[in-house]
Amino acid sequence: MSTKHDVSANAAKYLELEDQYGAHNYHPIPVVLEKGEGVFLYDVDGKKYFDFLSGYSAVNQGHCHPAIVKTLQEQAAKLTLTSRAFHNNLLGEYEAYITKYFGYDKVLPMNTGVEGGETAIKLARRWGYNVKGIEENKARIIFAEGNFWGRTLAAISSSTDPSSFKGFGPFMPGFGLVPYNDLVALENELKDNNVAAFMVEPIQGEAGVVLPEDGYLKGVRDLCTQYNVLFIADEIQTGLARTGKMLACDHEGVRPDILILGKALSGGTLPISAVLADDIVMMQIKPGEHGSTYGGNPLACAVAMTSLEVLKSEEMAENAEAMGILLRNELEKLNSPLIKLVRGRGLLNAIVINHKDPEVSWELCLHLRDLGLLAKPTHGDKIRFAPPLIITESQIKEAVGIIGEALKRLS
Ligand SMILES: Cc1ncc(COP(=O)(O)O)c(C=O)c1O
Repeated sequence: MSTKHDVSANAAKYLELEDQYGAHNYHPIPVVLEKGEGVFLYDVDGKKYFDFLSGYSAVNQGHCHPAIVKTLQEQAAKLTLTSRAFHNNLLGEYEAYITKYFGYDKVLPMNTGVEGGETAIKLARRWGYNVKGIEENKARIIFAEGNFWGRTLAAISSSTDPSSFKGFGPFMPGFGLVPYNDLVALENELKDNNVAAFMVEPIQGEAGVVLPEDGYLKGVRDLCTQYNVLFIADEIQTGLARTGKMLACDHEGVRPDILILGKALSGGTLPISAVLADDIVMMQIKPGEHGSTYGGNPLACAVAMTSLEVLKSEEMAENAEAMGILLRNELEKLNSPLIKLVRGRGLLNAIVINHKDPEVSWELCLHLRDLGLLAKPTHGDKIRFAPPLIITESQIKEAVGIIGEALKRLS
């Protein structure tokens, strides 16, 4: 691929700074952003773009949502952090709010998504020893192949993607893998009495928006119940209205034993994650056994409540459901030979590119950028289309027009 996609001299200055002084652990699309509003982002030269990534689904409520920013500003001027050495006046209110919102006995507040995953696994191991009666240090956690839950040593120890784990061993013991969407393989693993939990994404986001067959989550729930294993749902990317329901598990009416949330819990303003479970799981961790300096800070508590509030009051799940159907239909109508497949649920979608050159997806994203839409390939041939959930019908149509034009430029 040889098309030229230069950045402006102004933008180039920022790229050079990052290149010289920052670790090279990302490969971003060359665009330098300085402002966001709703479904749009603006670069340092004032050019406007549709945001079709939404900060990997952290910005479900739209960039700089006015109610979230208001809460953030007001609380930031009052009290931001006390640490959990002391109580603060918002933690209990937030804990009551989020547990009622999702229907669990208790919440454990953390910051990043990966910390939420680590917390869920610690809870599951503890439950395994104290409640299930697994012999000390023998507990196993099962994951699905193709999973992504972050970059810590535990997270990469369960990864099947060499770019995540290669060269970072030795790895966490006590982890096992089964193919995603395979209930027979799962049942075989769960027969081992040392298994404490199965942790799974209801839709695999980073793997390229991989949907299991209908009935898979229900099957997971039934097997976990049958074999006395905790079902941990990683809803960090799929949760909070992204897939057209508040939780992706709601599509099959299943309730996980441990629910992990992150990303859009702050509408993209702060790292906030949460682990929800009932007392039989949550009360296995005692004071001093787990925590985080920033977990449950009053700024995060205030912001999370408003972020959850606007998801409901602005009916974002309903909009995600309707706009997702429209987006997939409009993409299908493009009838492009370069699109092998359109898939997704709600506004978590991807196209699979039909071309033997893996560079084509990258090139397509550069054309999209030039035409005013930002998206990024994942695993070479897949491009995720996940705009903020406040996107309107006319904006979807305009955005698909841009995608159609970018595909034409490639062929
Ligand atoms: C499903 C899922 N779980 C966990 C994470 C990790 O979240 P964080 O990057 O905030 O640690 C991600 C991030 O993309 C994710 O998609």
